Amino acid sequence: MPTRSARIGVLCSLLSPVKTFADVGCDHGYCTEYMLQNGLCERATVTDISADCLAKARALLQKYIARGVCMPLCTDGLRGVDPETDLVLIAGMGGMEIAHILTGEGGFVPKKFVLQPMRDAPALRQLLLSYGARIERDFTFRDGKFYDVIAGSRTGGTPPYSEAELVFGRENLRKRGEDFLSFLRAEIKKKEALLSRPLQERVRAGIEAEKRYLEEALSGEID
Ligand SMILES: C[S@@+](CC[C@H](N)C(=O)[O-])C[C@H]1O[C@@H](n2cnc3c(N)ncnc32)[C@H](O)[C@@H]1O
Repeated sequence: MPTRSARIGVLCSLLSPVKTFADVGCDHGYCTEYMLQNGLCERATVTDISADCLAKARALLQKYIARGVCMPLCTDGLRGVDPETDLVLIAGMGGMEIAHILTGEGGFVPKKFVLQPMRDAPALRQLLLSYGARIERDFTFRDGKFYDVIAGSRTGGTPPYSEAELVFGRENLRKRGEDFLSFLRAEIKKKEALLSRPLQERVRAGIEAEKRYLEEALSGEID
């Protein structure tokens, strides 16, 4: 089934067949539509902190809601979501916000998760590892902009990440996919643009160090 955008397509490709699914911060609800339309879950919960955003999912998923197989819930994060939900998607929010949802009131590390932080992926990786979660997928992809996605499960643990794996994502450093390499090149260009301006020496040295780190990742010198 064609998905609504390349980003949504990547998220959907990581969603496995389950009994119960939750889409936290669902907004439009496209991923839940994909799950239900394709018979990939028996029941879905769609949540959003904003009633207006949730209204979009309600409209899209009307027939499933009427059948009682989709439950809309206006709530903050995972509050009110069954902690035994088989698979939870949290996408399109900051990594710190996602971390707060997982660890704050009503939060839990889901049995299976697909998380797509818009920033601060390293902090989210760190948090998942510290909770003993198993990270199975962790890569950067491109849909106009660059996105990180982290998928895995509540238990099973993950062999310790190196510092570079925390920063860039394990799969990126191991597989060196084209989108990740393009991301590094784009970040290096941003650093070069900054360095072409007049800067205090201390600031310049910091940016140069960041650029070197990116260059080392690009050349495969760090892992
Ligand atoms: C950019 S949209 C992403 C929508 C969709 N998940 C996606 O990836 O395309 C972010 C959504 O998260 C919702 N949101 C932000 N913080 C939230 C929270 N703490 N709990 C539930 N929803 C939240 C916003 O209202 C918004 O609808």
